[in-house]
Amino acid sequence: MIWIVIGYLSGSWLAAVSVCRWAGVTDPRFCGSYNPGFSNVLRLYGPRLAAATLLLDALKGVPAVLAAKLLALPVWLQGIVGLAVLLGHSYPIWHGFRGGKSVSSAFGVLLVLVPSVALLTALCWALLAWRLRTAAAASLVSALLAPLLCLWLAPGYVSVVGGFSLLVLARHGLNIRRLRRGEEPPLRG
Ligand code: G3P
Repeated sequence: MIWIVIGYLSGSWLAAVSVCRWAGVTDPRFCGSYNPGFSNVLRLYGPRLAAATLLLDALKGVPAVLAAKLLALPVWLQGIVGLAVLLGHSYPIWHGFRGGKSVSSAFGVLLVLVPSVALLTALCWALLAWRLRTAAAASLVSALLAPLLCLWLAPGYVSVVGGFSLLVLARHGLNIRRLRRGEEPPLRG
């Protein structure tokens, strides 16, 4: 239980908000796509701040999920701790429950739970983002791919990773509508 709470509270810390505050630039929740995450920071402020956001958002869930794994908690409970991190990012207690889309934090959690799936999914995300030029399209396909990769590489984690994917997909409603209208902003010019 304690690791679920720690997971949620650490997930609730939004790296994008702190990184942009440290850099003295406008909070990404108030400009661009209004999403406090890697992609919006990349479009607004470039790769340095975006990389810091990605790294910190990915790392913030690691202690809680690693503890759950090292304590050999059952897989479903490890999944709940991971989901708590993602729910923290998407519905952060420190930020009025208005957070991001949990893509980077899902990557960090997956890296602990099923590293092979995390790395392959990240590779897929990077290739798609480069080819399609939109972060959201890359995130949507990657979220669908991750549980399928699990079927092959870590069958015990399929439901857990499927749960993460459902949350990530649900958080992209606005992006899906923009993609359908052809209005999703490109990652690069
Ligand atoms: O990583 C989040 C991404 O999938 C969408 O972010 O800022 O393009 O709405 P954004």
